Parts: sequence; structure tokens; C-alpha cells
Amino acid sequence: MIPDKAPKEDVFLGSEDLKKEAHVPSFDKYKELYIHSVENPGEFWGDVAKDFFWRNKHTGQFLDYNFDVTKGEIFIKCMEGATTNICYNLLDRNVHEKKLADKIAFLWEGNEPGDELTVTYRELLQRVCQFANVLKSQGVKKGDRVSIYMPMVVELVVAMLACARIGAVHSVVFAGFSAESLCERIIDSQCSLLITADGFYRGDKLINLKLLSDEALQKCKDKGFPVKKCIMLKHLSKEPEEIVGSRSPPAKRSCPDLEIPWNPEVDLCWHTLIKGASDDCEPVWCDSEDPLFILYTSGSTGKPKGVLHTVSGYMLYTAITFKLVFDYQPDDIYWCTADIGWITGHSYITYGPMALGATSVLFEGLPTYPDVSRMWEIVDKYHVTKFYTAPTAIRLLMKFGNEPVQKYKRKSLKILGTVGEPINPEAWQWYYNVVGEKRCPVVDTFWQTETGGHVLTPLPAATPMKPGSATFPFFGVVPAILNESGEELEGPSEGYLVFKQPWPGMMRTVYGNHQRFETTYFKKFPGYYVTGDGCRRDKDGYYWITGRIDDMLNVSGHLLSTAEVESALVEHKAVAEAAVVSRPHPVKGESLYCFVTLNDGVSYNQTLEAELKKQVREKIGAIATPDYIQNAPGLPKTRSGKIMRRVLRKVACNEKDLGDISTLADSSVVEQLFQNRCCTAV
Ligand code: WT7
Repeated sequence: MIPDKAPKEDVFLGSEDLKKEAHVPSFDKYKELYIHSVENPGEFWGDVAKDFFWRNKHTGQFLDYNFDVTKGEIFIKCMEGATTNICYNLLDRNVHEKKLADKIAFLWEGNEPGDELTVTYRELLQRVCQFANVLKSQGVKKGDRVSIYMPMVVELVVAMLACARIGAVHSVVFAGFSAESLCERIIDSQCSLLITADGFYRGDKLINLKLLSDEALQKCKDKGFPVKKCIMLKHLSKEPEEIVGSRSPPAKRSCPDLEIPWNPEVDLCWHTLIKGASDDCEPVWCDSEDPLFILYTSGSTGKPKGVLHTVSGYMLYTAITFKLVFDYQPDDIYWCTADIGWITGHSYITYGPMALGATSVLFEGLPTYPDVSRMWEIVDKYHVTKFYTAPTAIRLLMKFGNEPVQKYKRKSLKILGTVGEPINPEAWQWYYNVVGEKRCPVVDTFWQTETGGHVLTPLPAATPMKPGSATFPFFGVVPAILNESGEELEGPSEGYLVFKQPWPGMMRTVYGNHQRFETTYFKKFPGYYVTGDGCRRDKDGYYWITGRIDDMLNVSGHLLSTAEVESALVEHKAVAEAAVVSRPHPVKGESLYCFVTLNDGVSYNQTLEAELKKQVREKIGAIATPDYIQNAPGLPKTRSGKIMRRVLRKVACNEKDLGDISTLADSSVVEQLFQNRCCTAV
């Protein structure tokens, strides 16, 4: 499946310098290790596991699984019977055994330039232990779920690791999500406690998180699920003595008029609780397959799925992918620009890098604030060596030309990475030529919330790159391309991307709904994990992701389901029916184009349009804000009443070639739709 020899034409080769000390220095070495990992997973992963502390050794097979729904329940187990604690491996071991106590874990850079602080591994261990004791004193026990709704601050990492230390299951909800989304996620995961902050700035915009949290908790209560406690961190309203860590210059982010509602029965102050807490906290030893966290991702029914990851497999997989894909070296300064509220931040800010004892930049702000050079200013300021971002950010910055990049030197950069969506070759070229000055390999990492870590990716010193291709599988990962009838295609081909066997870091279930896990990922093609992505394999065996082939769309690297947005629209009293499709967007990758059929007697106008946009933003969050809404008195439907989204996609893009529309019940609808196209969508 992987070519014997790497191609030499139409490819970009990694830097020679990198090869000297790289963990995987050549394509031959990659191939050799890959074959070993697939033929002998127990041995391969067993070696990876040697780098970690195990309280008890595993008993059964290293990896055990069933991927075939016709043979019984789907399951994946890794190192069953072994006990460990991920927080112990990330902190105590680095501090006490690996002599990294005084190494900086995070270089925190705030929204405002100049607002910064650092935290070492020793300090983090202390703070995590203290906060773990706080959680215990609030009655949180092993297995309990805790929601975390926080900005990009060090305390977010502290909260996650404190949960992990006592075996509680964190569910981080991205701070850009609405109160409604937070409420839905709290109830679905039955969380007993919420951790939040007063507020934060994103660029110029103030987000009052505490108000949103209160609104979410009120909604939970109204739905019969009262959450007992809410711990609030003061971020904007912090007193000078509440600042932990070395920080210079003094605070610039005070916000005296921030409204902070307070309900003494529920609300607790982070700083008050921490004051008396001991920094000694014995980790709770967990079984390998105990849950570590839940993270929600969009689902095609419109209801988000609680993707569940477990302790040991996730630990091994995030650590080894981080080490090899970014070719981690001890003196690296690594920066992943994602928010911890997404899987990228979980795996490649919190867990993977900390398992290796890495130093990371933790950035609160935006790539365009206060100006479009901010990223490169930060790269120079901290001498960032490995830089990981999203195609949408690259396309956004590319619009401003080379000058904002070239104002800074970027000499420290060695490897560049991307994730989240297919990267178009122009953006890849710009990233490679301008940002990396042709020195730095670009690792285009394909993966999903479900996969836990990279599954298709180049290794920077081993894999010749092709702009836009995620290249080859990571160790232990066996991809295949299937046609509509479920047959495996060989050689150059295009079809459904599936995986044939598990790797340690893949999800274990949908929280509270194992059946949904089986139906979503394993039912269509028994024996395979179905990614939901389309994929092409070229003559050299390279994999090219062609995008989602289900009802999901990818806006700025974040998945949304059409059903989720449709149901938010239909909840408006004026709307009878809604259909949402994606339309290509130069920066966001895809954007939302919505068709709404209004109730009788309601007329369409700008006020209504604004209300509908607001409705979606409030129900889901700002990322889901529709770009276009079109009044559609009729929708194209089949005789059985199914909306033909394929036709709507053509209308959204103004493409008149509709293909076969013989199943359409009333073809006059289509003409009308073209006439009524949104005038702003050229
Ligand atoms: C979907 C998963 C994994 C972290 C961020 C998104 C798309 C992701 C790539 C890539 C082409 C990509 C896929 C995938 N995707 N990375 N390098 N090339 N497509 O996590 O929200 O779970 O989304 O993002 O469509 O299925 P997610």
C-alpha cells in the first residue's frame, strides 16, 4: 500500500538539517517502522508504552477490538487491566524523574501584546494538585463529569489536569459556543459542576463568560437538571495578589465595569477556594479504559455527539504523534494556535506536548489583533521552532500579502503544520515559500475529534510532500478506500476513506449512546471505521482528502451539521422549513448558505434576516452564523419528500448544470430559486 520508494518528482523534500537528528530520518525508516506497527501492533505500542509509568501492567492483549457490527458489539480496548494516571505522567514524572521541574511548560501570551506570563512544570504540578483538592472538597469523584467553559488561560489546563488527576471526566466546551450549546452539553454529559471565568477579550470584543454560564445554568434548571456548583476564575477582574506565576509587565487586562452576576448558592470563587488548598494530592490510579474526557462534535442528526476518549490509549497516541510528527526535540518552542476547546488543543496543546515535557506557547488572542503580523511577532518573540495552525488562518493572512510576514525574521522556525480541513495548494505554497522560506517542511495532518490524534500525515524528515495531500498513514493506522458497494479499491482511486483496524487513540464510544457510535461509524461498511470523508489515492499512493461526504460542513476547520443549523432556523416562528448547504468560501473554506420557507402570511425582509442570523448565533455560536439566507417559497424535493440538497448546492453557487433531476417532484421550483438567489452571493 505504501510505495517501496518515495517518489522523487512533483514533491517537496524536507530540509537536510532536520534529517541529522530526526526521530524518523528517512522514508525507508518510516516504511520499516510502519510495517512493524501494522504487523505487530502489540510490540510496536508496547515499546511506546515503556516511556510511561504504569502502576500495574496490562493483563490481556495490547489492543483488542471488534469493528464488525455483524459479529457483535463494537469495542476497542488498549492495555486493559493496566493502571496509571495521565496527570501523573505529564507532571509528577517530568518534575521528579525527568528533571524538568524548572522547565517552562507554557509561555502564556494574552490578547494584548505585552500581557504575558510563564509557568514551569513544578508550578503547574502544585497548582493542579491544589485545584484537584478543591474539586474533591466540592464532592467531585472518579467518573464524575465536569464541564469546563474557559478562555485560553493556564487555568484551563490546570482544570483539565486536575480532573484527570482524580479520575473525573472533563468536558471542555469551546468558549465561543452559546449558552444554549453549553446547556445542551452539560445535560447530555450529566455534569455535576461547571468551571468558568468572568470574561475575556478576543481582539476588541469582550465576552462575558459568566453571564453566558449563568444563562446556560438557568436553562439547565428549567429543563430539570440543576447544576450544583459553578467555580469562576477571575481573569479580567483579578486582583494583583491573585496572579500566580512570574508575569511582566503588570496586568493590562483589567476591566473595571465587567458585570459579574453572583449566586451564593451555586457560585464559588476559584481564588478563594485555592487559598486554603493543599498542594499535595495523590493521583487516583485509573484503569487504561477508564474515561478521560468527553468532547462534543457535530452529528448529522443535529444533536452533538459526546466523543469519549480513554486514559492509556489516548496518552500513548497523542505523545507519540506529537513526538514524531513535529519531530520534537527538548529545546523546541512549540506553538499550536488552536483553541483548547477543540480536539486539536486537547491533543496538541495539553496532552501530547506535556507528555514529552515540551515548552509551548499558549495564546489567548487572534491572528489579526492588534494587526495581521501578530503571529510572526510572537514567533520571533519566543523563538518558536514548531508552528501548527489551520488553513483558514493561512488563507486569511495570505490576503494581506508578504509584507506583514516579512517584517519579522522567523529564523527559529523549523517545521510548519496544518490541520482542520483540506489545504488548497496555493495556501500550502504560500505557507511553505513565504512563512517557512522553503526551509520548513509542512506537515498536513489529517485527523478528527474521533481519531484522537493524527492518522494521515507526513513525517517531516521522512516524507516527500505534495501540496494539499496528507500523504501517508501514521504508525498503526491502516486506511482503505471503498466504493459505494463497500469494495476496497486498489491503486489510484477515489471513494470513502475508512480505517481497517484501531490505533490506541481512537474514540471508544459516544457518551451515553453506544448505539449511535455503532451506527455513525461502523454500520455503513461492516468491518471498517468510516470517517465521513471522501478521499483520493494517486499513482504514488498519496492520500488526498476531498472533503466531507455526509451532511457535515467544515467552516474554518470546524465541523457543523446542516441539520443543527436547520433546526436552529426552524425554531424561529416565521420559518416553516429550512435547508442548509455549504458554499465554498475563500477564507473559511466553506460557508453556510441557508434556504428558508416562511410560514403563510410572513414576508421576508432585512429585519427577519438579521433575526434569523442572530437566532443561529445564539443557538449554536458565532462560527455557525449564516453567510447567506435566501427566501425560498418552495424547496426542491423528491416525490417522497426528501430535500435535494445537491440541487440547492448548485443554486448557492449559481451553477446551472444540475445533472439528473428526474426525481424532482416539481421542477418549476428550481427556476424560482435561481431567480431569488441572494444578491450578495455572486
Ligand atoms: C474533519 C474533522 C482534527 C482536528 C480539527 C478538526 C477535516 C481535518 C484535515 C486535513 C483535510 C481535514 C476532515 C475531518 N480535516 N484535518 N489535514 N485535510 N481535511 O476536527 O472537528 O473533528 O473535524 O476535519 O473533514 O473529518 P473535527
